[in-house]
Amino acid sequence: MKDSKFEKVLLDEGTIRARVIELGLQLTRDYAGKTPTLICVLRGASSFFADLSREIELPIFEDFIAISSYGDKTSTSGEVKLVKDVAEGIEGKDVVLVEDIVDSGNSMKYIKELFAARKPASIKVCAFLDKPSRRTVDFQADYVGFTVPDEFLVGYGLDYGQRFRNLKDVRVLAAEVYGGKK
Ligand code: IMP
Ligand code: MG
Repeated sequence: MKDSKFEKVLLDEGTIRARVIELGLQLTRDYAGKTPTLICVLRGASSFFADLSREIELPIFEDFIAISSYGDKTSTSGEVKLVKDVAEGIEGKDVVLVEDIVDSGNSMKYIKELFAARKPASIKVCAFLDKPSRRTVDFQADYVGFTVPDEFLVGYGLDYGQRFRNLKDVRVLAAEVYGGKK
């Protein structure tokens, strides 16, 4: 690519768009007759959440949480903390946690268990991206946009040091940018 910060575009805008529409259709079918509560995991899932929620042809509730995981810039330590909780209780609700990417699996395993203890009617995880080769805990998202290789990705909400979230596509960050250590 011209811009040497990136190795390549992994998922272009059209590819993302088509898959988000499919996921929206799938959720519309799976939650027919219900009013699911979509919970956006800030900040990474914001772009995906905004696009996905508008492809669901059902009444929905929207809520937002933020988590932090301690670790260096390209991998997490496994220690997860809820830094912003939902505004409304989830007891008895059909919850869909919307996340940007499942990597080690630590964040979503922790959050799903934490929220399951609040007695929702159901709880599922919809992840834009899944990097199964990096898993260190037993966790599988219920809905996955794309399964991706073990590369450090940015764009469409995903960041490197808070940068690149506003790219419309998903790109592989050049190893020179992050020092080659994932
Ligand atoms: P996990 O707890 O290891 O599954 O980490 C998930 C979190 O790590 C995601 O929500 C992202 O914030 C971050 N993450 C993992 N892989 C990437 C990547 O390739 N690019 C940007 N962020 C990533
Ligand atoms: Mg995240």
